[in-house]
Amino acid sequence: MQARGHGRLDRVGVGCAWGFKLATGDAPFPLKGAYLGWQTGNRSEAESVSRTTRISAESACHWREHHRKMQCMSKSFEELDFRTTPMGDLSLRRRRVPLLDNREVYEVVLGDAFLMSSLFHDVEVALADLCLVDREGPLDVVVGGLGLGYTAEAVLRHSAVCSLVVVEAMEAVIAWHVQGLVPLGAGLSADPRCQFVNGNFFALAAQPEVGFDPERPGAKFHAILLDIDHSPGNLLDPSHAPFYLPEGLQTLARHLHPGGIFGMWSDGPPDDDFLKALGEVFPNPEARTVKFPNPLLDCESSSTVYLANKPG
Ligand SMILES: C[S@@+](CC[C@H](N)C(=O)[O-])C[C@H]1O[C@@H](n2cnc3c(N)ncnc32)[C@H](O)[C@@H]1O
Repeated sequence: MQARGHGRLDRVGVGCAWGFKLATGDAPFPLKGAYLGWQTGNRSEAESVSRTTRISAESACHWREHHRKMQCMSKSFEELDFRTTPMGDLSLRRRRVPLLDNREVYEVVLGDAFLMSSLFHDVEVALADLCLVDREGPLDVVVGGLGLGYTAEAVLRHSAVCSLVVVEAMEAVIAWHVQGLVPLGAGLSADPRCQFVNGNFFALAAQPEVGFDPERPGAKFHAILLDIDHSPGNLLDPSHAPFYLPEGLQTLARHLHPGGIFGMWSDGPPDDDFLKALGEVFPNPEARTVKFPNPLLDCESSSTVYLANKPG
């Protein structure tokens, strides 16, 4: 993972390594069993085992010791929410990282994929800043993919922005923000310019007459920022694929005002095929490599931000 040197893969590698180490410890059961221990919350792991299994004094002692360890570990690892969704199991976790002076880190995991970690958000912020810098308002903006809210928050820091629609497929992710379960949630929810829309970005992108804002069908925007898939070649779901082809991008451009901008986060280095597809719709698209410090691996990582302007 480290050798690839790109943001989201680093998140995957680091997250998996920590997740596995903290969750399993020396516990004699697989990863999922360990999570169940936390999910049951007020019921102890030892209790739940002794209710279902006849255990020897020796193993009861083992479980008491194990339970003590679990309680210690649970102070540095909590699963704040877990839901089964059509896209896979979705989990929100908060952990403390001993290597970083017990810094608190939030993570979103979907199935096997680490969607987001609060430890790495420089490029998510850069996506907003690169798209909005020097743009005069008032600006109507769309963000595809709420995650932990870093891109959305960075958009709202631009005073020229008068409205932001954040399209998020997972109801649970929106709920985490509305309930203030994630650090940026309360601020985003309280900002009158910000509206969360529970929907599939790619389905809405394919319907310019419907548009991204249910309150303003067919509305056009000054900027559309996308951070959902890992990269144009590494998708969360195969149904997203048509969006990344010239026809899909052409349809997306119909949501933009003349002079509007499309920006996209991507893991990995610039993808020539995707740049070519962008170039069939937008003149002179760019792929910017954005570097950021990786404190866990003590190195610099990078991701790509694509920028494409619709002619004015
Ligand atoms: C990588 S996270 C976004 C990170 C975000 N930029 C931030 O600053 O935290 C991707 C988000 O896209 C959402 N998502 C996945 N598929 C989607 C879809 N088809 N439409 C809208 N959102 C989707 C995921 O639930 C997740 O919240």
